[in-house]
Amino acid sequence: MEHLKEKIKPYFREGGHGLDHIERVYNLAIRIAEQEKADMDIVKASALLHDIARKKQSETGLCHAEQGSKMAPEILEKIKFPKEKIPAVVHCIEVHRVSKKLKAETKEAQIIQDADRLDAIGAVAISRVLIHNTTHNTSIYNPHIKPKEEYDGSTTTAINHFYEKILKLKPESFHTELAQEIAKERYNFTKEFVERFIKEWHGKN
Ligand SMILES: [Fe+2]
Ligand SMILES: [Fe+2]
Repeated sequence: MEHLKEKIKPYFREGGHGLDHIERVYNLAIRIAEQEKADMDIVKASALLHDIARKKQSETGLCHAEQGSKMAPEILEKIKFPKEKIPAVVHCIEVHRVSKKLKAETKEAQIIQDADRLDAIGAVAISRVLIHNTTHNTSIYNPHIKPKEEYDGSTTTAINHFYEKILKLKPESFHTELAQEIAKERYNFTKEFVERFIKEWHGKN
């Protein structure tokens, strides 16, 4: 799989939501796959390739899950990945975006969805929200702006973003037992951070 790690590098931009995200999803996916006794070849390849078309999406607006699933077979053939497992990898990539509401039909596809969503919550996710906020010059918190009920892709303040998107990743919505466990810890940590932040803002902590 080291082969594949090298192969995917040119598809990602330096910094940003790039290879570091892939590395985290890869490590989480392996951990969950071990517990679930899933096919490790499929899980590893899918984790490495699931966001391969992200750059393409930002250039063309096309869905990166759909595009990535079309790009994967050629890349896998080049590294002599077992041919019979390619369709399973394609499925994992195709359905990985939970917001698209496509069903994960296999254990491996569920694991990729879980690992990918886990990366959106917890300490790393908090840091990413704050960095994004700084580079986009929006305020961190404004008690007069209430969070939106439904997330619409744009965010008013960093703290609102937690309520609008991140804290909607409920631990029970994850497929696998281990992901639920990790999600619970990350969820509570994130919630505590946000609540403490607001208290401190008002001088109550
Ligand atoms: Fe993705
Ligand atoms: Fe991802």
